[in-house]
Amino acid sequence: MKHIYQQNDLSHPTFVLLHGTGGNERDLIPLAQIIDEKASYLGVLGEVRENGMPRFFRRLADGVFDEEDLVFQTNTLHEFLIDFFFENNIDINKVVLLGYSNGANMAQSLMLHFPKVYRYVMLHHPMNVKKDMAFQEDKQAHVFIGAGLYDPLCQKEESDLLKERLVDASINVTLHFEPIGHQLTQQELIAATAWYQKTLL
Ligand code: MLT
Repeated sequence: MKHIYQQNDLSHPTFVLLHGTGGNERDLIPLAQIIDEKASYLGVLGEVRENGMPRFFRRLADGVFDEEDLVFQTNTLHEFLIDFFFENNIDINKVVLLGYSNGANMAQSLMLHFPKVYRYVMLHHPMNVKKDMAFQEDKQAHVFIGAGLYDPLCQKEESDLLKERLVDASINVTLHFEPIGHQLTQQELIAATAWYQKTLL
């Protein structure tokens, strides 16, 4: 998979950066650098194209996912990541998935399908993927959700539901709302950084 990797201080976490629809492997690097300048990062480019726009899995319409492709792409990305961590001596216990929008949905899918592997997950403006599938109980998993109160792609109830699904699995979750839509703001980034420092440093 096309990617960009920057190794920094390996005693700090390594971010896996998963962009939104139409983005690329470099989009979230500035975020990672603001959150922790000593962290390493691996930005990955989604392999699906929708009218030329990169994504991590196909969708049939806005918010309607191609479930078969979601599972296939989740497995493919997981295999790529596991090999990459091994080859680069990256401690999986210090990996943080950081996704925005479609990338946040993929991060959530990785967590759903590979429980106890991805334990630190930052979801910026996610939806609910695989609502029929429960997260596996894991008291050692930590999730930050950044959401917009007026996000047309993810209503407040959807964010509340995602939190509930995680809490049901005893996963530690912080849900942070901003009075905004689908975009990422400085305020959300400040809240995400505070969560990261409390949870990982
Ligand atoms: C998705 O398809 O994952 C969501 O609709 C978010 C997005 O627009 O990428």
